[in-house]
Amino acid sequence: MANGIGYGKIILFGEHFVVHGCPAIALGIGNKAIVEIQKAEKLSYTSEVKGTLPKLTTAAIQNIMDAMQIKDAFHVHLKGDLPTIGGLGSSAAFCVALVRALNEEYQLNLTDEIINSHAYEGEKAFHGNPSGIDNTMATYGGAIKFIRDKGFESIKLHSPLYLVVASTGIPSPTAKMVAKVAAFKEKNTKVFDHLLDSAEKIVSEGVAALAAGNIQKIGSLMNANQDLLSAIGVSSERNDLINRVATEAGALGNKLTGGGGGGSCIALASDENHAQQILDKLKEKRFKGFVTAVGKGS
Ligand code: MEV
Repeated sequence: MANGIGYGKIILFGEHFVVHGCPAIALGIGNKAIVEIQKAEKLSYTSEVKGTLPKLTTAAIQNIMDAMQIKDAFHVHLKGDLPTIGGLGSSAAFCVALVRALNEEYQLNLTDEIINSHAYEGEKAFHGNPSGIDNTMATYGGAIKFIRDKGFESIKLHSPLYLVVASTGIPSPTAKMVAKVAAFKEKNTKVFDHLLDSAEKIVSEGVAALAAGNIQKIGSLMNANQDLLSAIGVSSERNDLINRVATEAGALGNKLTGGGGGGSCIALASDENHAQQILDKLKEKRFKGFVTAVGKGS
């Protein structure tokens, strides 16, 4: 028996556009996936995490086994406190945790870089054309600026951000949303290029605002980013409703995070108490969520 962990994340700026070359900013959250493995006659998977991962899990496990050239079969069990509600990188965290568990089982001493690349193979089963941001975050955590096929760098946060993470209650169909954006781009090339430029500007202004601790600016950039995500068709009524309730509760900014089409939203609060107040308002409307302080110690 061996086990491994992978971290959850939120994307503050740049999801979807990151698939098409725009930088994106991701921040690690405390919640993590834990995978336990046990040698078995044949491959099997169980989970004690609410919401559980889609059926593609077995394909993801197989992709990882193939990438690591492992022929043995395992029973794979998922636990931990990272909800699989979508948008929080749970599939990537699962992949990284599995690679780490196999690393421990076979005493492979893999570097984080190799762990990340094996996990990416698993992510392909879940997401088709992943940018790699989720598995990178699940491997390293922290606060990063990520550019597809180029790599990532750690970024500085002046102070932690208090965020409310709220679930739409609808699993985010990330692969479908990524394909939808690709189709939008194909049909509306000029418009998409223009939106991509705007997303890049948001990310670069976002990096500066994070370094300066300018939370008003971070909030308005989140709203601008949400407008771009709506324009490419990845928001949903439930995402929009959460954003509206959070705005009415005084959030400094709101957006969906991750794949959209459901999944999760994030709302920026001025401090921990304010975050709790926003969460309470969301709960009054029967949305589930939690408060997280991101960027601590980055
Ligand atoms: C999903 O967490 C983030 C997306 O940008 C997809 C990807 O980058 O692979 C929607």
